[in-house]
Amino acid sequence: MIDLNTGPAALFDNLRPQAPDALLSLISLFKNDPRPDKLDLGVGVYKNEAGVTPVLRAVKAAERILLETQGSKSYLGPEGDMGFVEALKPIVFGASAGGGEEVFGVQTPGGTGALRLACELINAARPGARVWLGTPSWPNHAPIFAAAGLKTATYSWFDTKTQTVRFDEMMAALNKAEAGDVVLLHGCCHNPTGADLTLDQWKTVAHVVAARGLLPLIDLAYQGLGEGLEEDAAGARLVIAAVDDALIAYSCDKNFGLYRDRTGALFTFNRNADRADLVRSNVLALARANWSMPPDHGGAVARIVLEDAALAASWRAELEEMRVRIASVRVALADADPRLDGLRRQHGMFSLLPVSPAQVSHLRSAHAVYMAGSGRINLAGLTAATVPVFAQAFAACLEGEFA
Ligand code: LMR
Repeated sequence: MIDLNTGPAALFDNLRPQAPDALLSLISLFKNDPRPDKLDLGVGVYKNEAGVTPVLRAVKAAERILLETQGSKSYLGPEGDMGFVEALKPIVFGASAGGGEEVFGVQTPGGTGALRLACELINAARPGARVWLGTPSWPNHAPIFAAAGLKTATYSWFDTKTQTVRFDEMMAALNKAEAGDVVLLHGCCHNPTGADLTLDQWKTVAHVVAARGLLPLIDLAYQGLGEGLEEDAAGARLVIAAVDDALIAYSCDKNFGLYRDRTGALFTFNRNADRADLVRSNVLALARANWSMPPDHGGAVARIVLEDAALAASWRAELEEMRVRIASVRVALADADPRLDGLRRQHGMFSLLPVSPAQVSHLRSAHAVYMAGSGRINLAGLTAATVPVFAQAFAACLEGEFA
């Protein structure tokens, strides 16, 4: 006889229902809205002036090459495509530095996989370690930390009213952090606020992180979409130069437009060679236990692009086109309404508007404007033609309808 109190039924009855992911739910909500003038400012994907999330030209060309030249789909190992990882290194760490012996990288399923692997590595080294997280942050950060067994301590990152970083609060938090604590840093294009540290602030952060013995975990998911490829890595490079150990979770989903191909990498930086070896072996063992080997396609495509001078130049040019388009929407929004003026000084796809959850849902029901419940907009969902439409809906919501 199966004991119903201890068998699988009782086991699963212990589960608590989980709400669908609020951000990803916007994809189908938007799709099912029949209104022709609807605006999708929800999930963070780039869109061109025609509202399309394109396959990049260099990516299409690399896919053709891959189709013609790939002779085998045999396993590569838990590290994935090391040609891809090596080709990324100078982009992340700088052409001259290139990473050096201290840097080890593995391919991961997207930036999310890189973050999860980083957190499992930390938890294996120090179970229940504490991660300092400025809020608001990407809604998946805290769940990833928790799923890996880490604890999260928060501080207030952003003042929605002034649209600026609360740097004093960040400093107060870091000065409270204890040696061995982890600090999550958005490398560029902060998600969801668009508010990044200045270079001087990065220098201060690098100094405090090094002086207090904290471990920087840098989430670099939008390189090239803020101020440019080099500029967007400058903060991360300052921190790495100041510390002995760091982790960098990298995503190619946005800057290569490879979203659903789940393409990323985890880079570990350890100045001490013995520690670098120890970390390396643990990263590989954890990758093996998680996904055994990462999906190949996106990494192979990015490698082909980066190893071919003409394709790499095409990729850089198209990335720059995307960056410039988003920046022009940013300026147009700031020009359209003084309440959006702060957006001018921010970077990347996102800004967090001073709207309540009720106003967000009103904008959706009354104006067919889809944005995250937090008030985050994806600026890439707007065009020169739709900025005024959005600005008008925003003003109507704030002034009349919901004053
Ligand atoms: C976003 O923040 O919209 C993207 O990073 C998509 C995601 O996975 O949440």
